[in-house]
Amino acid sequence: MRFDTRLVHSGQRPAPGTGDIVAPIHVATTYDRFAQEPLRLFYSRGENPTREALEECLAALEDARYCASFSSGQAAATTALSVLSPGQRLVSSDDVYGGTYALFSTLGRFGIQVDYADLTDPAEVRRALATDTAMVWVETPSNPLLKITDVAEVSRRARARGAVVVVDNTFASPALQRPLELGADVSLYSTTKFIAGHADVLGGALVCGDEALHARFVEHRTVTGAVSGGLDCYLVHRGVKTLSLRVNRQTATARSIAEELCGHPAVVGVCYPGLPSHPGYRLAARQMSGPGSIVSFRYRGDPEKLMARTQLFACAVSLGGVRSLIECPALMTHRPIPRAIRNAAGITDDLIRLSIGIEDPADLVEDLTTALEGD
Ligand SMILES: Cc1ncc(COP(=O)(O)O)c(C=O)c1O
Repeated sequence: MRFDTRLVHSGQRPAPGTGDIVAPIHVATTYDRFAQEPLRLFYSRGENPTREALEECLAALEDARYCASFSSGQAAATTALSVLSPGQRLVSSDDVYGGTYALFSTLGRFGIQVDYADLTDPAEVRRALATDTAMVWVETPSNPLLKITDVAEVSRRARARGAVVVVDNTFASPALQRPLELGADVSLYSTTKFIAGHADVLGGALVCGDEALHARFVEHRTVTGAVSGGLDCYLVHRGVKTLSLRVNRQTATARSIAEELCGHPAVVGVCYPGLPSHPGYRLAARQMSGPGSIVSFRYRGDPEKLMARTQLFACAVSLGGVRSLIECPALMTHRPIPRAIRNAAGITDDLIRLSIGIEDPADLVEDLTTALEGD
């Protein structure tokens, strides 16, 4: 089966006895021991058939053997980090989601060192991996600057060090980028975003090919209770069926919006990996099947006023849904990062991030250009 067919068919076997062509929603927290043959299900913190159907689908999208789904992207990230021990070191992309930065900030208490590096720069990668490293955390495209890291090259160097490579693939989704095929060990998702796609459910996932790593993830999830419930898994699995349709449409619109912004007098610079002016343009074209639908730009006027003026773009955090959103990372998603660090990384107060939805492209361009002209 090819990718678009897997989106619809994987994990959706007709239910025995009834023939449902959609995996049923299992809500029971516990299972009768004598009603099962063979005995497999005990307690839904450990096992849930709706969750297993979703996991089968998400693993299939990356041709991977394993997937563990979680209650949120942050729960998935916490679980990925649980394989680290005191005294070990994590190297991370310097441009990551603010919540990831906040999570990494807690690791010092457990004796884990975190070093940030610009992993888009091969010299920095060599320098960062010159000392013992247990895990490399790559976010590409990164949030909010859309920096592009060479996953194959970082994975090759990390492997030589014996480090586990985790790629936060939330921005690209498996429709545009498949980290395991590029050499990474783990693909991490906030399924809340493109995979579920409708801004109505939280979820996370860790996809990998290694049995021992997957077993550690599942064990950590079970003991900490970071599981996703049956209803939530159903919603994510329902949403993912249209992933390609949504992402292709969103990407086409994002490209035209990025081009429109480039020539606008109120805009200082545009970050979009689909523009030849973007430093990661060539790498993105090689490693991804499309540049995606997140566009960031620097605005000459007052970001608060701009965000209040858009009518179709809702001013809200999150991304990847069918409805377009606008936000200011310094004020919203990346606020947990201290200002000096934010500024040094380029996440300045004038930076605006757009998540492009599936509305009519002409309406979105009109909404944005009208709002830009307001100051
Ligand atoms: C790149 C990225 N990774 C992880 C997360 C965390 O996901 P969740 O909000 O589902 O916990 C987010 C949330 O915005 C994100 O943008």
